[in-house]
Amino acid sequence: MEPSEKYLYKYKGMYFHPEYVTPELIDSLEEFEIRVSDVFLITYPKSGTVWTQNILSLIFHEGHRDETEDIHVIDRVPWLEYNLNKLDYANRPSPRLFTTHLPYYLVPRGLKNKRVKVIYVARNPKDVLVSYFHFSKIVITLEEIPDFNIFMERFLAGKVHSSSWLDHVRGWYDHRDEFSILFLTYEEMIKDLRGVVLRICDFLGKELSEDDLDTVVKKATFENMKEDPRANYETMPGGLLEKDKGHFLRKGTVGDWKNTMTVAQNERFEEVFKEKMKDLPFNYVWNNE
Ligand code: A3P
Repeated sequence: MEPSEKYLYKYKGMYFHPEYVTPELIDSLEEFEIRVSDVFLITYPKSGTVWTQNILSLIFHEGHRDETEDIHVIDRVPWLEYNLNKLDYANRPSPRLFTTHLPYYLVPRGLKNKRVKVIYVARNPKDVLVSYFHFSKIVITLEEIPDFNIFMERFLAGKVHSSSWLDHVRGWYDHRDEFSILFLTYEEMIKDLRGVVLRICDFLGKELSEDDLDTVVKKATFENMKEDPRANYETMPGGLLEKDKGHFLRKGTVGDWKNTMTVAQNERFEEVFKEKMKDLPFNYVWNNE
């Protein structure tokens, strides 16, 4: 079953949503003016984007840490290609924080000056798949596919928003030398959140006091983020979420795919992905532990 054109169109090898992203916008982003102080968070969808957005926001914005400012994470670390709140990116104060799901070859050329910091977060693709499947049910502008098998085939064929998980991760990994990039995984964030926050701070040259570090870690836990209206994405612009069907912060665990995928589905998934993932560095992620 091919994706409906109402929800997806392909441009330069990548699937986008016709309502939010035009080919002209994509073309213009390649020339988007970069400042060396910009920080880019890059992910394939459902890999821990919002989590890392929140961490970055907490690291950079004292007003977020101490709750003196009530600004949503989406306005602090907005998506480059989905400017949902129509922010004036060109006139934002530095350092600007951006999020994007773009593949390596469509991001602003200026990122290749190797001075702009890029953080890439990857997640076990089986968990990404399951998370994406549920997400498609709650976002009104995504095509809801009730049959997991059909969704999985679409995912494996890269016929979903942001196209193929494998191409995305591989593209960014293979071209890592062209950027100043820190690779993280969702799984290491689950295992050692404090350690990851420290690595991010280190990479970005931000020194936080022990107390501030504690605050960032505490506010970035799943439980706290779920309750935090600035970070839980319960109020997306344009009524994007059907809240009665689920939440952006759904389970927040590692290995949830085992609760959804059958043995046969897992075998099918591995048949398509395993060989191709062999030389990627996130090896432990692919193990079935
Ligand atoms: P699940 O659907 O498996 O629960 P993205 O932000 O890239 O769309 O990723 C969404 C996934 O990240 C969801 O996964 C969501 O629950 C999870 N997530 C968000 N915040 C989290 C947190 N603080 N801790 C753990 N997982 C989190």
